Amino acid sequence: MTTVLGIETSCDETAAAVVDDGHRVRSNVVASQIEFHAKYGGVVPEIASRKHIEVLNGVIEEAMSTAGCCRDAIDAIAVTHAPGLVGSLLIGVTAAKTLSWLWNKPLLAVDHVRAHTTSPAIGLDVPPWPAVALVVSGGHTTLFVVRGFLDIDRLGATTDDAAGEAFDKAATVLGLPYPGGPSIEECARDGDPAAVAFPRTLLGRESLDFSFSGIKTAVLYHVNGPGKTSGGLERMSPQDIADTAASFQQAVVDVLVTKIMRATARVCTDTVVLGGGVAANALLRKTLRHECQRRDLRLHAADMAYCGDNAAMIAAHGYHMLEAGQTADLTLDACATTEPRP
Ligand code: KG4
Ligand code: ZN
Repeated sequence: MTTVLGIETSCDETAAAVVDDGHRVRSNVVASQIEFHAKYGGVVPEIASRKHIEVLNGVIEEAMSTAGCCRDAIDAIAVTHAPGLVGSLLIGVTAAKTLSWLWNKPLLAVDHVRAHTTSPAIGLDVPPWPAVALVVSGGHTTLFVVRGFLDIDRLGATTDDAAGEAFDKAATVLGLPYPGGPSIEECARDGDPAAVAFPRTLLGRESLDFSFSGIKTAVLYHVNGPGKTSGGLERMSPQDIADTAASFQQAVVDVLVTKIMRATARVCTDTVVLGGGVAANALLRKTLRHECQRRDLRLHAADMAYCGDNAAMIAAHGYHMLEAGQTADLTLDACATTEPRP
């Protein structure tokens, strides 16, 4: 058995986890900072990195004790080193390098977005590859073809806002609390998804890229009037707001599902996997399940515990890097963007 300690601090969640053999999770501790960022309507990078410093040691200790694990039982330490907020990444990378040196264990440098593609495989005895993977979060909306845990190629990505970012911005326009995804989802329950005809931007018949800036502006003008950016919300009834939220959510889900189906037609696979914070959205999960059933495709959506940022997926992905001999050394640095791959 190979046991990996994972550490994740790329954005506003401080997380640590202990995972056996890349898919059996012994502990998964996530300390969310949402309450500290909510009043600003988004993540404040300086606050995020300071909060990571305050809680990371305690989060790692809790992950170790919940797993019933001492340092001798850990075979390697995996950490998110890219992409993300560089000040936040640096806290996790520094902690992981320190433990690697102190405990004399291999260090694994994990790409956060690629780890999101591993999250739907957690708990599965048989890996789901090859598959089309959609990682849909606050920072990313990316389609991949995954042939193996480390054999991943990008098929398409957002050209502007990420889908989660669009949820967060639309929520702000509608006066709903941060983070916007869960609050739009809740508000949309009382709304009519066909009430407002928001655009479904598909970027041409062949494209596997995404664009969500148009729908964000469409929500802004729907609320305030054409060309206006404020003053309209007070005139909307709670039903108007719910209808707008439901119509927005439907439009985003339609685009995501359409692009996944395009990707499965392009790539020879009968399997779809879904990860990232927006993967927690019930309408997205339901619509995708339905479309996959219609086309005889298998769907593995990440468990709710592994949709948002977590360290179990970092440890799981790190395990496969360890198996492949892809270890890092103490010169490892944090990197705000994913290095482009050939
Ligand atoms: O993966 P994640 O925790 O962090 C990033 O890597 O970005 O994703 C956070 C994003 C936020 O934009 C949040 O609004 C969105 O995921 N989100 C949702 C839901 N829960 C979280 N979006 C739609 N529906 C949800 N239920
Ligand atoms: Zn993420």
